[in-house]
Amino acid sequence: MNPDQLRAQLLAWYDAGARDLPWRVGPKDHAAGVKADPYRVWLSEVMLQQTTVPHATPYFLKFTARWPTVEDLAAEDDGEVMAAWAGLGYYARARNLLACARAVAGEHGGVFPDTEAGLRALPGLGAYTAAAVAAIAFDEATNVVDGNVERVAARLFAVEAPLPDAKPELKRLAAGLVRDHRPGDWAQALMDLGATVCRPKQPLCDRCPVSAHCAALKTGAPETYPRKTAKGERPHRYGVAYILTRGDAVALVRRPPKGLLGGMLALPTSEWRAERWSDAEALAAAPTAAAWRGAGEVDHGFTHFTLTLRLLRAEGLAEDVIWTPRRGLDALPSVFLKAARAGLANLL
Ligand code: ADE
Repeated sequence: MNPDQLRAQLLAWYDAGARDLPWRVGPKDHAAGVKADPYRVWLSEVMLQQTTVPHATPYFLKFTARWPTVEDLAAEDDGEVMAAWAGLGYYARARNLLACARAVAGEHGGVFPDTEAGLRALPGLGAYTAAAVAAIAFDEATNVVDGNVERVAARLFAVEAPLPDAKPELKRLAAGLVRDHRPGDWAQALMDLGATVCRPKQPLCDRCPVSAHCAALKTGAPETYPRKTAKGERPHRYGVAYILTRGDAVALVRRPPKGLLGGMLALPTSEWRAERWSDAEALAAAPTAAAWRGAGEVDHGFTHFTLTLRLLRAEGLAEDVIWTPRRGLDALPSVFLKAARAGLANLL
């Protein structure tokens, strides 16, 4: 392969059809000297580590409408930001987001450092985000490698080593394609290619601007890259969620600050464990004595395990709960919103 030819072809493809994204300065404007706002780039990258562009976009628009600058975000109460983050998952990221915003506002006068090293020194800002913001907002020639870029590299070079062990090799191969020329556009072109053409399943190789360079395509089975170590199924856990109502209101609790979904609003639940819960156990773990009735089950996939929540529902009273009107349930993390909706929809 000729890396410089590959680069020219991919950048030309990006110039012709870059996705129009609300945090992005497109290639034409960028060439004319328009710079991306580091706050918007940073916020979008943190959100996109979590989820896809279609899912993240409404959150990005909501956040930037409500908190147009990093100083606005830094000044907000934790609870408001956590509630706005609900549905994006992995709440430690929202806490890191605030820690970082407050450091930029408090120690850097509201101005993001303009180098990868300076960004990396901020609290709560990881290696990937530092590389991405430095490239996209400041045109530093960093190596921006997320899952999309790993997949593209694994295919271009037909890397046989399986993930996750192949990560360092994929990173090295991706680094070999970075130049001082247009590093921000390059990073975004690779991301667009990975998201729209070099897709995990059913890659659209006939539309790929760099298929001539692709070693995986020559093997006849490009979709089988990157190789993956056969890994066991995600473990399964079981719990009981309790939907206690009082008229229109639903009883919520705040989860302990540390751990999964730490500090978030939640339905009261039993502990989550490897075995299913019997009827007697589910009643014994309830937050209050009431006429609990079965209201179905929901499954939810977390990164490291799958959870099945048995739903019990009752009308009643309890102490130390936060009575929340049904229309306020949107601030719940997805797993509890799903459970509350399902439990409330199932007739007793
Ligand atoms: N995925 C991660 N970062 C992205 C970005 N800046 N643009 C598009 N997709 C992305």
